[in-house]
Amino acid sequence: MADTRPIGFFDSGVGGLTVLREAQLRLPGESTIYLGDSARHPYGTRSDEEVVHFASELAEALIDEGVKVIVIACNTATAVALPALRTRYPETPFIGVIRPGAAAAALSTRNGRIGVLATAATVRSGAYFTAIKDENPALHIVQVAASELVPLIEQGEHGSAALRSAVAQALLPLTSIDPSQRVDTLLLGCTHFPFAREAFASCFGDTVAIVDSATAAAGTLREVLAVNQLEAPGSSRGTAADAGHAGHTAPEHVAVTPTHRLLTTGDTAQFRQLAVSLFGSERAVETIEQYKVPARG
Ligand code: DGL
Repeated sequence: MADTRPIGFFDSGVGGLTVLREAQLRLPGESTIYLGDSARHPYGTRSDEEVVHFASELAEALIDEGVKVIVIACNTATAVALPALRTRYPETPFIGVIRPGAAAAALSTRNGRIGVLATAATVRSGAYFTAIKDENPALHIVQVAASELVPLIEQGEHGSAALRSAVAQALLPLTSIDPSQRVDTLLLGCTHFPFAREAFASCFGDTVAIVDSATAAAGTLREVLAVNQLEAPGSSRGTAADAGHAGHTAPEHVAVTPTHRLLTTGDTAQFRQLAVSLFGSERAVETIEQYKVPARG
């Protein structure tokens, strides 16, 4: 059974577009709906209750749009709200970004030392610490909170001197220590951070592998669609359990043109500009009015 319903993505703002881009590269036949809550970003400095509340509203909006699966393209919302969302909406499969990112970082390190740069809420949750230790208890993890980078990235300051200096400052706990103790893998534990990948790389040179949860989560998404038989026509590659004989490999003749929608609770022009800078081509952005609430409630 091929499933033409779209895949839903949400984030506190533009950060999850980094996950969306990776997903679209890997799953070109799938339709997508992305919802960015730019009017209420950042999430990383909010209370857990607020994050769960906002994440539930966004998930519900996507479910109302008829999505078949939801990617929580936000580390903060994954760290704080994933169990609550799975409990509240049992019919919808949710994919978080923490476990895939943790697995990728654990596989990447050679010296057993991983740096995790994330928002204050993600660090506070301990979700990355637990997930990386689950992969390999012997690994040493240094977590650094850098919530202050999120508003800069949301404002489009990607290559600016202000952002470079803020990145260098944020990385000091990792760069200012004895070289023998340094991490060899930096996990970008916030989906906004890949926008500033060059700034991170320039602080370390090529001595550190930079891993992001966006790429890793897109790989997990493909697996989840396959095992749940939710793939769009023409997308199936079969699974280890079923090479396609159970009927979820789409017939070759079914032609589907995927559709892609971008929605924001914030300013559409600014959102569009950031989307264009990431995707390299024009993107239409719709507004979703009902969540236009004061940024701090
Ligand atoms: N992009 C989000 C994350 O991955 C949230 C950043 C924020 O709003 O503070 O954590």
